[in-house]
Amino acid sequence: MTTDVLKFENVSLKFKDETIYENLTFSVRAGEFLCILGPSGCGKSTSLRLMGDLIPADGGHVSVMGADPSEGWSKLAYVFQSPRLAPWRTALGNVMLGMELRFTDKPKAEMRSTAERLLALVGLQDDMEKYPAMLSGGERQRVSIARALSVEPEIILMDEPFSALDLNTRRRMRDEIIRIWQETGKTVIFVTHDVDEALTLANRVLLLSNKPTTVLETIELEAPRPRDIENSPELSEQKAHLISLFQTLETNATEQDN
Ligand SMILES: Nc1ncnc2c1ncn2[C@@H]1O[C@H](COP(=O)(O)OP(=O)(O)OP(=O)(O)O)[C@@H](O)[C@H]1O
Ligand SMILES: [Mg+2]
Repeated sequence: MTTDVLKFENVSLKFKDETIYENLTFSVRAGEFLCILGPSGCGKSTSLRLMGDLIPADGGHVSVMGADPSEGWSKLAYVFQSPRLAPWRTALGNVMLGMELRFTDKPKAEMRSTAERLLALVGLQDDMEKYPAMLSGGERQRVSIARALSVEPEIILMDEPFSALDLNTRRRMRDEIIRIWQETGKTVIFVTHDVDEALTLANRVLLLSNKPTTVLETIELEAPRPRDIENSPELSEQKAHLISLFQTLETNATEQDN
C-alpha cells in the first residue's frame, strides 16, 4: 500500500478579492516524483508556500506527513528558482548553514561530514571550497540541492529550479535530479510550466487549470528512464495532449484578461 505524505483537501484561498483556489484537492505519495504543471499565475508557487506553512489556507485542509503544516514544515526542504546562497560562505559553508539553522545541537564535525558527502553526491567534490561567485549557475543550484538534502527532509519542494539555466545545463541537471531522487528515495514535488520537463522527470503529472485553480488532469507516467520523448510514441502522444490542453488554458487566460 502506498501512503500519502502530503494532502490538499478542498483547499480554498483568496488574495484580497482574487480567488486562487476553490476546493483544490490532490495528494502526494511517498517516494514519488510529482510534477505540478500549470500556466503562469495559477498558484503553483503558492501551493508550495501553503505546504511549508508560509501562508495559511482560507478553507479546507493541508496536511504534511499527517500533520498540520505548522508541525509538518520540518519534514520539508525547498529548492528555489534562484539558489539563494550566502555569498560569504563557501559551497561547504552554505550546506552547513542549512543544517546550523535547522539542527541547533548537531556537532560541527558531523555537519561537515554530511555536507561533504552531499556535495559529492551532487558532483561538487572538487568545488567545496569555492564561494558562490566562483560557481556556475548549475553548480550553485547543485549546492542548493545538497543544502535541501542536508536537513534530512522527507519531501523536497522544487520551484522551477532549472528554469534560469541554459538548455544543456538544464538537461544535465534533470538527469542529476533523477539520479539523486533514485539514490535517496525522497519524495519530490517539482513545479514547472515546461511540458517536456514534466514528461522527462515525473512519475505523475498534475495539470492545474487557470484560476480558480483545480486539477484538470492527472497523468501517470510509466516510461523507463532515461526518457527520450521524441523516440517514444507513448510520451510523444502525452506531450501532444498536454500541449494542446496548455494552449487552451493560455487562450482562456487571455480572454479572461481582456
Ligand atoms: N502575496 C500575494 N498577494 C496577492 N496576490 C498574490 C500573492 N502571492 C501570489 N499572488 C497571486 O496569486 C496567483 C498565484 O501566484 P503564484 O506565484 O503561486 O503563481 P505560479 O503558478 O507560481 O506562477 P509562475 O508560473 O508565473 O511562477 C497570482 O495571480 C499572483 O499574482
Ligand atoms: Mg511560481
